[in-house]
Amino acid sequence: SMLEAAHEIDIDLEGACEGSLACSTCHVIVMDMEYYNKLEDPTDEENDMLDLAFGLTDTSRLGCQVI
Ligand code: FES
Repeated sequence: SMLEAAHEIDIDLEGACEGSLACSTCHVIVMDMEYYNKLEDPTDEENDMLDLAFGLTDTSRLGCQVI
């Protein structure tokens, strides 16, 4: 996932629930529309958690759910 990839290159992205969709601390904002459009659509569970994320945008995703 993007969360794991971030950790591998020492980017300090939080992931309090370790990818079990029980937090929104891994919130990322995808800046590249082309890349965003290539991603699988978020599941309902991801969307529910995203709703709780601080500073939600149209291209917000949960880092642990994005491959
Ligand atoms: Fe908790 Fe992604 S690490 S939802």
